[in-house]
Amino acid sequence: MSVDVTTSPTPELSPSTRRWFHSAVVYQVYPRSFQDSNGDGIGDLRGIIARLDHLAALGVDVVWLSPVYVSPQDDNGYDIADYQDIDPTFGTLADFDELLEQAHARGIRVVMDLVVNHTSDEHPWFVESRSSKDNPKRDWYWWRPAREGMEPGAHGAEPTNWEASFSGSAWEFDEGTGEYYLHLFSRKQPDLNWENPQVREAVYAMMRWWLDRGVDGFRMDVINMISKDTSLPDGHLTHGGLYGDGSPHYLCGPRIHEFLQEMHREVFEGRQDRLLTVGEMPGVTVEEARLFTDPTRREVDMVFQFEHVGLDHGAHKWDRRPLQLVDLKASLGRWQAGLADVGWNSLYWDNHDQPRAVSRFGDDGEHRVASAKLLATVLHLHRGTPYIYQGEELGMTNVPFAGAESFLDIESVNYFATAMGQGLAAEEVLEALRDGSRDNARSPVQWDASPNAGFTTGTPWFPVNPNHDVINAEREVADPDSVFHHYRRLIELRHTDPVVADGDFHMLVPEHPTLYAFTRSLGPETLLVLANFSGEDLAVPELPGQPDWSGAELVIGNHADPVAPEDAGLPVLRPWEARVYRRRG
Ligand code: GLC
Ligand code: CA
Repeated sequence: MSVDVTTSPTPELSPSTRRWFHSAVVYQVYPRSFQDSNGDGIGDLRGIIARLDHLAALGVDVVWLSPVYVSPQDDNGYDIADYQDIDPTFGTLADFDELLEQAHARGIRVVMDLVVNHTSDEHPWFVESRSSKDNPKRDWYWWRPAREGMEPGAHGAEPTNWEASFSGSAWEFDEGTGEYYLHLFSRKQPDLNWENPQVREAVYAMMRWWLDRGVDGFRMDVINMISKDTSLPDGHLTHGGLYGDGSPHYLCGPRIHEFLQEMHREVFEGRQDRLLTVGEMPGVTVEEARLFTDPTRREVDMVFQFEHVGLDHGAHKWDRRPLQLVDLKASLGRWQAGLADVGWNSLYWDNHDQPRAVSRFGDDGEHRVASAKLLATVLHLHRGTPYIYQGEELGMTNVPFAGAESFLDIESVNYFATAMGQGLAAEEVLEALRDGSRDNARSPVQWDASPNAGFTTGTPWFPVNPNHDVINAEREVADPDSVFHHYRRLIELRHTDPVVADGDFHMLVPEHPTLYAFTRSLGPETLLVLANFSGEDLAVPELPGQPDWSGAELVIGNHADPVAPEDAGLPVLRPWEARVYRRRG
């Protein structure tokens, strides 16, 4: 099969213009953990090429690649030392070009991760910047002296009290020039200074270079952090009392819309319309998201918001509490309503930063298969572009971590050390890490039941989940009732059914504690989605304002024995059962 993934010029856009990605589904590949091709235990580009047929069989339209650029791998590639080359761990530019060609030959677009809030401290730009106070690139990063009257390098002398996302101060003291540099993430990820027009032009040139090479767009890492309040005020003290929360001063800062509009003009204007831009935006509100994704403003196509993946957090990420379905419905329902007439939603449960959805929102024990399919059904029937994270289509679960040494991710490792330093109980901290660690998402994809799950012939950089004897692609592709085939059907439904792609969304019974119910409607057609988020039978109550659904066509369900549409009344849903019905007129 060969699908034309090339041109069509940018059309005039109104807030309601129908765009190609309304019926598209994106699949995220985290290259380290996807497929190893050379036995070094680390996934790579040739491994991805070898598995493209899996993605084609699933039917996805776009692959988003987490970073494969040259990187010291302090944050698994989100710390980039050369934006225009491939890390030898992952392969070469020639491998990349082949991946692009082979994906395009299957009708799959390729979207790159764009990490430009920060570089690696090993990027030549930063190496120059730190070399002296009068280096021409000094101002490409955020350099500041110690707080007035304080000894440079002493505790509390940091220019602001901001805490970094990966624990500790967001400022690192640099002996060489006696100043601090800002890093909102690890100390090996210095923040670029977007106030400097040379920085912006260098980034845009690099983006054009990738588009000219044939890539189909960008997923923009923490892109709403690029505009900071240049007066750099202190933040309110947070839980530990040691540091302040700087986020009000760098999330969706004063020039963020200006920067994204400039980027659009400088990079995307005049190029083919079938590119994809999605901005990862922690803390973004619905109101801001309307502005970012209003097509007439020409900023980005859609954003990743974080509200629904924060509902099981208490005071902070490591303070875990059970998800209440009512909260999930309220949140996702508000995003559906907020972006109904202007803008567009992205839809996700999982990515490389989140624990596995089936373990977190479903039941990864007895009802694993049903609950994985239920989660898929609910998400893919919302209005927006669904994202599938590698292994989600297999119902992969969280990892059974033995102890502290099993965690590899910098965020988890740093948090453990910090929490121990604060005197917290190790067992409690480990429990929080088991639930919430990003490492849950990073165990290798389970391709088959062989010792290394078909991921590598060597020693995997991260142990394969022991449940790969049961949960693996080979088994699922062979089983028509598998999680894999359920995802495949949902993707096909989005491709073929305009109601799924474009229909209006209407939430039903928002207060019901275990029933997730909504309709999608377009013209004379309505879809009714019913999902039982519990391990008990659930008799669907009367749905206020709904017509009689008896005799309606069952579009898709998640139980192996398909239930004929009821003759009368609403169904009793079995544990973790989800159904989609259709009415005409
Ligand atoms: C984003 C990425 C995450 C990374 C961070 C810093 O949140 O998804 O993996 O650690 O940005 O680049
Ligand atoms: Ca490899």
